[in-house]
Amino acid sequence: MWRKAVAAAVLALTVGYFYHTDPELPERLLQYVSQSSPSPEGTPSTPTIEQTISSAWEALISAPARQWSRVAVGVNACVDVVVSGVGLLQALAVDPGQGADHEVLHSKEDLKEAFVYYMEKGAAAERFFSDGEAFQRIARAAAEYPGAQLYVGGNAALIGQKLATYPQLMVLLCGPVGPKLHEMLDDQIVVPPESLQETDEFHLILEYKAGEQWGPTRAPQANRFIFSHDIANGEMNTLETFVASLEEFQPDLVVLSGLHMMEGQGRDLWEERLKEAVVAISDIRNEVPIHLELASMTDKDYMNRIMQEQVIPMVNSIGLNEQELLFLSQAGAGPHAELVSWDGVPDVGRVSDILLWVMEQHGRTNPEFEADLTRIHFHTLAYHILVTVDGYWGNQVAAVAAGARVAGSQACGLESIDATKVALRAPRDFHSSHSEPREHLSLNPAMPVTIYHRGNVTFYLTPVLVCKQPLRTVGLGDAISAEGLLYSEILQQHEQQQ
Ligand SMILES: *[C@@H]1O[C@H](CO)[C@@H](O)[C@H](O)[C@H]1NC(C)=O
Repeated sequence: MWRKAVAAAVLALTVGYFYHTDPELPERLLQYVSQSSPSPEGTPSTPTIEQTISSAWEALISAPARQWSRVAVGVNACVDVVVSGVGLLQALAVDPGQGADHEVLHSKEDLKEAFVYYMEKGAAAERFFSDGEAFQRIARAAAEYPGAQLYVGGNAALIGQKLATYPQLMVLLCGPVGPKLHEMLDDQIVVPPESLQETDEFHLILEYKAGEQWGPTRAPQANRFIFSHDIANGEMNTLETFVASLEEFQPDLVVLSGLHMMEGQGRDLWEERLKEAVVAISDIRNEVPIHLELASMTDKDYMNRIMQEQVIPMVNSIGLNEQELLFLSQAGAGPHAELVSWDGVPDVGRVSDILLWVMEQHGRTNPEFEADLTRIHFHTLAYHILVTVDGYWGNQVAAVAAGARVAGSQACGLESIDATKVALRAPRDFHSSHSEPREHLSLNPAMPVTIYHRGNVTFYLTPVLVCKQPLRTVGLGDAISAEGLLYSEILQQHEQQQ
């Protein structure tokens, strides 16, 4: 008898101890306890919270009443070549030496110096290589380097690849598609012949490991140095071809990305090119819904132009992550713009404040507004929120859950969620706003989509089951947005007016 009592006391202490260090643990311990205690024949053991959420999603995710049949995606596409940085530089017969930063790389020597400069710090960096011919020689050496890995790259191509996993869907991809990329794309993807080009746009990703040594240089941590000579994507060269090809393809949804690529071309170029892009995009408008996938930008003026000069108000839907959301607010002096960056998991109340602000400033929260924006798919590591203006979209619960499901499975390199390989990182309790009046909300694992309303806008929040040992996270945001769109439907005009 006393043995049991002691065991119980030790267990209580252990649970108490873990509770203070990791609030997720007691559940697991209790499960362990309940699993190890003899249970009557045939009674299933208590599922973990991850299992509960994962099976609840399966029950919630159903196809919308009206599915897309033809989706056109453009316009950034490239081939990512991942290779050992030191290995490639040695293969190029470059000697180790001193590091020096260069804003633009003009030669192999510049490349070496910039690579060494960042490797010494263990910091990520991305640079433009100005000499086209020299770049092609380096790219060829990289692609042929033993162990080099080639991947489909560019948001448009990645979204296209994800959509093409659905056999009933016709996908058109427009972007600078070279022979290598064409070969790697899913057979189901149609590429307009005018956007095919003789050489690929290679993005070279030079990796190094923590502690890796090259001459006098030693990397304090693993990271990557990225460079390219990508003018086609930088100028959005295929945008006009994309718009022209829509007439024949007749899509029922257009997905646009690659605007962020122009930023690196300098202000003179992007000012001109953005005006042309706005004209091109306005040709699509009214015909068919447009989703815009945002990606990381650093120039506030550029971001403001995209917000105000009618790009964001001109599209029906946008997809973005926590960095892009905060940057939107900082660039436009929105709520919480004083935050330098998110500290850990972004606060749901603050995120909701910024999302509502974007919708009210640039969306159609009032039927009298000109703007078309009625949907935002926000994704961050620990949770996703789908925000829609009431009356314009359907199947939101399934759509947000499907996006989260693909995040948990794809990061682990799996077709479906393995509940033992993922962990819940989202807050269990949160608020609809950072300031009063606000609603206190909590996560229900058996019904894992929390719904709340502010103004004429509805928020659908679901946690992510985060892969504990992710294999490859590049393109995860693109996959989430693609999956969310697949399960979304846009309501017809008469339904909007109710
Ligand atoms: C919500 O929509 C109604 C019309 O449907 C409008 O009168 C009202 O101003 C809108 N509210 C906000 C906060 O925009």
